[in-house]
Amino acid sequence: MRATSTGQRLDITRAPLAERSTLAEDVRDGLTRPFKELVPKHLYDARGCELFDEICTLEEYYPTRTERAILTAAAADISDRTGAIELVELGAGSASKTRVLLDAIDADGRLERYVPFDIAEAVVRPTALAILGEYPELGQVHGVVGDFISDLDLIPEPATAAPRILALLGSTIGNFVGVERAALLSGITSLLRPQDRLLLGTDLVKDPAVLEAAYNDRRGVTAAFNLNLLEVINRELDGDLPVENFEHVARFESDLDWVEMRLRARAPCQARIGALNLEVDFVAGEEMRTEISAKFTPARIEDNLAAAGLEIERIYTDAGDLFALTLARPAA
Ligand SMILES: C[S@@+](CC[C@H](N)C(=O)[O-])C[C@H]1O[C@@H](n2cnc3c(N)ncnc32)[C@H](O)[C@@H]1O
Repeated sequence: MRATSTGQRLDITRAPLAERSTLAEDVRDGLTRPFKELVPKHLYDARGCELFDEICTLEEYYPTRTERAILTAAAADISDRTGAIELVELGAGSASKTRVLLDAIDADGRLERYVPFDIAEAVVRPTALAILGEYPELGQVHGVVGDFISDLDLIPEPATAAPRILALLGSTIGNFVGVERAALLSGITSLLRPQDRLLLGTDLVKDPAVLEAAYNDRRGVTAAFNLNLLEVINRELDGDLPVENFEHVARFESDLDWVEMRLRARAPCQARIGALNLEVDFVAGEEMRTEISAKFTPARIEDNLAAAGLEIERIYTDAGDLFALTLARPAA
């Protein structure tokens, strides 16, 4: 079942809330493990989305401005090479960088449809409306509220036989590891026709000091983003997790090539998650993982894509090799 509201130029499709919101089961599973862990998609309630947008403007958070600069340099080439008339963006958020690509496709006179897809209901409609307003010649914006792990089938069929781009920017792919990452990439491959392309943004392995600074900003915005996850649980699941007893931790795990965000209990505490009838204990100093942000090398990008049946057409990077934007196609 899906819900669609149809306007002339605006469509919004929502996966049913009961299927999309796995918060209860994820919290029960994650808080009853010996090493507690929460699922990062739950960081993005309305407040989490606002905080993420603020993170993107921080001096320490180089990925957004670097990816934007790469896109700015590459957008005309991407539009030219792909001949795309349509852009589907997974984890679109507020689509701030996406405009660069939409501008290039628009300048080529081909912009027909934009599909922002995100788990966060709070961002999909405003993003869709903003893009509609900014691109009067755009035929349609079709927003999808869903989980790109389970709801890719909600993406509308391509409008015509003309090519489309599926974009996954912001190194969102780095929030997934192992079989989950493989499943997400394979799911994307299954949506690509021979003429379509994936545009994948990946943060690259670099000096750990630069990586750790990006997740430990001086203004504490990333800390607020991380701690907001406890507010989400308290609000949505009738919990009483003592937010002030937790502190933000972010470390680069050099043996795994990823940054882990955790929440650490300053002192022992107990909490009750009413909706789950669950009591949870934390010992002093106990850490709970809230997000993995994996970093990539060109070889790892190629391997991951190849395992999903994709091959690289072109990799665009910045002069400092901080970030990569990869255009990939279904393997011959
Ligand atoms: C790291 S942010 C990137 C946002 C934007 N693409 C950018 O590059 O700045 C990740 C985005 O993906 C969304 N997201 C996270 N997990 C998701 C999931 N499982 N399904 C759909 N969207 C998800 C979040 O709500 C958020 O908007």
